[in-house]
Amino acid sequence: MAIQSKITEEFAGFSKLKYHQRLTKLKELGFLNSAQVQYFQSGQTPSPELAEHFIENVLGYFPIPLGVGVHLNIDNKNYALPMAVEETSIIASISKTAKWLKQCGSITTKTIGSPHIIGQIQIAKVQDVKRLQQTLAQHRRSFIDQANQSIAQGLVRRGGGIKDIQLRILPRPDHQIMGVIHVLADTCDAMGANIITQICEYLKPKIEHYCQEHVSMCILSNLNDTRLTQATITIDDINPELATRIADASLFAELDPYRAATHNKGILNGIDPVLIATGNDWRAVEAAIHAYACKDGQYRAVSQWRYHNQCLTGILTIPVMVGIVGGMTQLHPTAKLCLEMLGVPSAEMLARIVTAAGLVQNLGALKALTTVGLVQGHMKLHISNLSLSAGATDQEIPLLQKKLEELLSFRKRITLSNAIELLKEIRHPNLGTTTPQEQTV
Ligand code: MEV
Repeated sequence: MAIQSKITEEFAGFSKLKYHQRLTKLKELGFLNSAQVQYFQSGQTPSPELAEHFIENVLGYFPIPLGVGVHLNIDNKNYALPMAVEETSIIASISKTAKWLKQCGSITTKTIGSPHIIGQIQIAKVQDVKRLQQTLAQHRRSFIDQANQSIAQGLVRRGGGIKDIQLRILPRPDHQIMGVIHVLADTCDAMGANIITQICEYLKPKIEHYCQEHVSMCILSNLNDTRLTQATITIDDINPELATRIADASLFAELDPYRAATHNKGILNGIDPVLIATGNDWRAVEAAIHAYACKDGQYRAVSQWRYHNQCLTGILTIPVMVGIVGGMTQLHPTAKLCLEMLGVPSAEMLARIVTAAGLVQNLGALKALTTVGLVQGHMKLHISNLSLSAGATDQEIPLLQKKLEELLSFRKRITLSNAIELLKEIRHPNLGTTTPQEQTV
C-alpha cells in the first residue's frame, strides 16, 4: 500500500529524548551534521557586531526557543521542520498531527501562477488618463528592457527580471483618478522586497518624463497574489463523526470573520515559526495572508475542509513570499543552519513547506477543538511553564509538575495561583496539604 510505505519509525519516541539525544538523533537521520550539532550545543548567539548589520541601536539579541517539528512527510519526502516560537504546544501539535497523517493520510503541495513580486508606482492624481494609458502602452517594453539591462541585471542573469508593467485605474472619493502602475518581477530565490522597490524608483523619472504625470510613491505590494501556494491534506481512513466536526469547524471560519481570525491565526502558528527560523519576513507573509483572506470583500478562513465519499480533504491556498537568499537568510547563522536542515532547493519549495506546515497545524487545532477541547491538552504542556513562573527551582519542578498534573486531571484547568499554592505546600509541608478537591473551592 502506498500509505504504508511512508510510515517510518525514524522519529519514534523523539519527543521523549533529552536535549543532547535529540541533536544526536537529528544527526543520525542526516538532518544535521557534526558542526551544526556543535553550533547548537555551544549555545552561542551571534555577535552584537553582526546585529549592527541588521538593525539600528543594537542592544543584543532576544533569543526565542527553536524547536523541531517532526513526522512531516510532504510530497513524499520527510522533513525536520525548524520552528522558532514561544507558544507552548505548537510544535507538539504539528508533530502529533503529522504522525497521524503519516499513518492515514497525505500532504501534497503545489504552486499556482507565476512567481512575481509586485511593485507599485502611485500617481496620486492623474492629469490625463488617456495619455497615461497610451504612453505606458507605447513605452512598456522599453521600460522593461531598460530596467532589466540596468537595475535588474543580476536578476536577469539568474533567470528572473522584470516581466510586465500594468496600469490600474482607481477612482478617488474626490472624483479624480488615481493611477497605480504595477511592476511584476521574478526575483528568483530572493524574497525581493528591496530590489522591487529599487526597480520602481528607477522607473519613476522615466514614467514622469514620458507620461507627464507626477509619481507620488514607489513600494512593493505584500499582496503578491500572482503566485499562490497550495497545500492539500487528504485522509481516507477517518472516523466520520470527527471528519464531519472538522468540516463544520471549517464552515464556521468560512462564514464568520470572528472565527476566521482565530482559525487563520492557528494556520499562522505553523507558518510564522518556520519563517522566523529561516530568517524570513513573517510580517510580510502575515499581511499577504490576511489581505488575501478578504479577497471577496469579507474576511474568511484561508483553508477549507470538506468531508466527501468517506474522505476528509483540507486545502490551504495562500500567497507566500519568501526567500532562501538575501536578507537574513544566509547572514544569520541560525537561519542559514535551519535552511540547510530543511534542505530546500528553492524559495518556491520553502513556500510549499511553509504552507503545508500551516495546514497541518490547522488540522491539529480543529481536531483538538472539536474533540477534547484545547484547554486540557494545552494545559498539560503549559505545566512546566507554570512551574517556572511560580518560581520553582530545578529540584522542586518534578514534584510541582506531578501535583499540577493531578490537579489538572481532577479540575480540567489549572492556573498560576494553583502553581504558587502548591509550591508553598512543597516548601512548607507542615502547613498541611490541600487535596485537588480543596483546590477547586
Ligand atoms: C491558538 O494559538 C490557535 C487556535 O486558537 C487556532 C484555532 O482556534 O483554530 C487553537
